[in-house]
Amino acid sequence: MTTPLVAMEGIDCGYGGAQVLFAMALEVMPGEVVTLMGRNGMGKTTTLRALFGLLKPTAGAIRVKGRDMTGAAPHRVAAAGLGYVPEGRQVFPRLTVEENLLATARGRDGGWTLARAYGLFPRLEERRGNLGTALSGGEQQMLAIARALMTNPDLLVLDEATEGLAPVVRAEIWAAIAGLRADGLAILVVDKNLEALARIADRHVVIEGGRLAWTGSTAELNADRTKATRHLEL
Ligand SMILES: Nc1ncnc2c1ncn2[C@@H]1O[C@H](COP(=O)(O)OP(=O)(O)OP(=O)(O)O)[C@@H](O)[C@H]1O
Ligand SMILES: [Mg+2]
Repeated sequence: MTTPLVAMEGIDCGYGGAQVLFAMALEVMPGEVVTLMGRNGMGKTTTLRALFGLLKPTAGAIRVKGRDMTGAAPHRVAAAGLGYVPEGRQVFPRLTVEENLLATARGRDGGWTLARAYGLFPRLEERRGNLGTALSGGEQQMLAIARALMTNPDLLVLDEATEGLAPVVRAEIWAAIAGLRADGLAILVVDKNLEALARIADRHVVIEGGRLAWTGSTAELNADRTKATRHLEL
């Protein structure tokens, strides 16, 4: 049996006294593209924060490649092979594009380099000397994705992959994600565009009120969309 890249089970988590996640669970296998869907405020970002050690669960377990990482510090989770593209991108505003790419980079033989990142998003090469603050929303998202890839992750995690971006930029982001998938990279993606997610993903996790509400393959999703999508606003 293959070991999951990431396995989260029975996670309770929240902010101060306010519990947000209740026995939340999800799993990503190597090479798999999994979506995390749910309405606003249902706990998607909180799930990802728990996964990356930014919030400490009060119950449950998180394993990365079979190793217990429950409550581990964010840098340890990143070092274990997880790359994060957070909601709102969070590019370093006072660093140039190229400095952003190099700031958290971790080399790996045959892995991501500046040249490969610029190949994925040529726009970033044109803007390589510009400060983070000078970038458009789409350019910031490209930079956030490329910066995460420069850590050579085994799993790329994207929160709101295309939120607030123009249609043409969205298409570019989806194409890049499809290319990464074709290269065998595992991806966990939060987005609100069900059609784009259904085209790109192997499996889906739907969260409602901080709880796992539905999970299934894209084939299962397509076979009974109402069952999965009653938890979404469409
Ligand atoms: N820093 C915080 N402090 C207190 N409560 C928070 C904090 N961040 C989020 N919450 C609450 O936790 C719940 C889940 O929020 P979360 O951001 O995980 O939802 P989400 O599914 O990512 O929503 P969205 O689609 O709007 O991004 C919400 O009720 C929200 O108000
Ligand atoms: Mg969110």
